[in-house]
Amino acid sequence: MFNSIRFRFISIYFLLVLICMTIVGAFIINRLEVVQIQRVTSQMKQSLDSIENTSAYLSNEDWQSKKDEIYRTINAWQISQSDTIYAIAMVDNKPVIISSTSNAENINTARSALTHKALQPNLILNAFKGNEDETIVIGGIDELNAKHLVKPIFSSSGHIQGILYMTSNLSEVYDVVDKARSILTYATLIALVITSILGYFIAKSITEPIRTVTKKASLMAKGDFNQRVDVKSNDEIGNLGHMFNYLTKELNKTISQTELEKSKLNTIFNYMAEGVLAINNENKLIHANPIARKILNLDENFENRFFDLSKLNIFVDYAKLESLEGESELEIDNKFYKIKYAPYRLENYSDLGIIIVFQDITKEHNLDNMRKDFVANVSHELKTPITSIKTYSETLLDQSNLNPQEIKFLEVINNESNRMSNLVTDLLQLSDIDYGSYKIKKESIDTYEAISLALDHLDLLIRNKHHKIILDVDMDIKNILADMDSLDRVLINIISNAIKYTKPFGVIKIAAHSDFKNVYISVSDNGIGIPKKDLDLIFERFYRVEKSRSREMGGTGLGLSIARDLTKSMGGDLKLESKFGIGTDVYLSFLAI
Ligand SMILES: Nc1ncnc2c1ncn2[C@@H]1O[C@H](COP(=O)(O)OP(=O)(O)OP(=O)(O)O)[C@@H](O)[C@H]1O
Ligand SMILES: [Mg+2]
Repeated sequence: MFNSIRFRFISIYFLLVLICMTIVGAFIINRLEVVQIQRVTSQMKQSLDSIENTSAYLSNEDWQSKKDEIYRTINAWQISQSDTIYAIAMVDNKPVIISSTSNAENINTARSALTHKALQPNLILNAFKGNEDETIVIGGIDELNAKHLVKPIFSSSGHIQGILYMTSNLSEVYDVVDKARSILTYATLIALVITSILGYFIAKSITEPIRTVTKKASLMAKGDFNQRVDVKSNDEIGNLGHMFNYLTKELNKTISQTELEKSKLNTIFNYMAEGVLAINNENKLIHANPIARKILNLDENFENRFFDLSKLNIFVDYAKLESLEGESELEIDNKFYKIKYAPYRLENYSDLGIIIVFQDITKEHNLDNMRKDFVANVSHELKTPITSIKTYSETLLDQSNLNPQEIKFLEVINNESNRMSNLVTDLLQLSDIDYGSYKIKKESIDTYEAISLALDHLDLLIRNKHHKIILDVDMDIKNILADMDSLDRVLINIISNAIKYTKPFGVIKIAAHSDFKNVYISVSDNGIGIPKKDLDLIFERFYRVEKSRSREMGGTGLGLSIARDLTKSMGGDLKLESKFGIGTDVYLSFLAI
């Protein structure tokens, strides 16, 4: 209550009026008192002046002898009850009261003026020195305040004949002042009451709209956004109301837009073909759409339940953002799923988690298997007839009685069957890798020797195209831990590509170095390069950049795919960078030993 604007407002008003009234009151009372006392003083002076002017004997005669006359003179003046006049003269060098208007005085008894309790000795002494003097005596006789005034009366020779001493009771003056004071006090009290009432209503007119806005804002905080305030004025408070109404309108608009978006997302979420899961950074399930619930056999009360991500082969560390994104493949209940996951988060990372999408790839997976089966079976079936054709054509070629045309035909048959045989070998090797039945026997192989062996195999090709080979192999290079045949195939595939896809008189650089873990071999050429659009596809089986030209060169499009699969199955890696028209670099890494 004491903290409310209303209370503060009333208090400030109250204090302001109180201070003003007190200052003004004090000033008025003071002035009134001064003016009243001045009025009394001037009346007293007038009385004494008149007595002096009308009674010439006062300046000429000895006052002691004129005692009775002086008594008559000063009592003849119609002075008020509250005033008293004393005539004082020097008798035997002592100021003595000769006469007075006071009933209490015995005029026949000469009394020392200095010891009279109603008179001020210092005024008397001062007057006998020739000075007019006056003073206010506070709390004199009967505790009353009085004005005292003395006037010396001079003879014509300048000698002081005596002094007139007048006192005037100021109780009337102070009565007036007191009355004025009480009137002012009442006025102040009335002003304070009126001020408090007015202050209450003014404060109310300010605080009431603020209270209304506060009440409506708290209703908004509870979720009811249909709040409006009535704007009754055009001032700052009115502006506040306008702004509040504008705010609620905009909020309503934004919220309905968000709700619409949410509803759209919900529909997408519930009816999409893919399964979607959302998991927070405590690995608790937050959302799962119907498909995801079906895939993972989740019941209705899945929310906020702990979810073991390792079941999906997902291993994340919420402190490392890069670990929150990736993809994998998984088999659940005889169905195959491609799983993609990515993080969701607030800008300040206070809320973090991952969204996982399940894509059913069972059909593709089965088709792929069927295709692989088919290729493997066909290759297998073709292997024997092709070998027969090859053997017979070679046997026939060995005969001496053949005419040149027969030799030419037989050579074509032999070459083509060689190509077919190579293709079938490639295909069989790929299906072995696919089915995991490809056996690799890891052994320690001298890196330099492995490269030399591959170059020996390709010597004829290199000579035919007049390429320059630059070999840059570290002296202390480590051995490679790999399968001898597979390593040879990888190197031959990669180096033969460099030879094939570089115009005659090209430069092929083969460099090799090692660290404690790996042996790195790079094969760089300054050949035709690979266009950017094809770079992602060249590892696909049978993919060739310019089909017609590659075929001319005897390529099948399997080389890179085999090389990469073999390298990976030996624990290594293969990467390719190329600039069209400039050249290609292939980077191989193998385990070192
Ligand atoms: N060093 C290279 N320079 C330019 N293009 C290349 C290079 N290496 C590969 N390519 C391109 O990539 C395609 C795929 O290469 P890959 O080795 O898989 O097949 P291929 O050489 O055509 O046939 P294969 O190696 O089975 O005889 C090639 O057809 C070729 O167009
Ligand atoms: Mg090749």
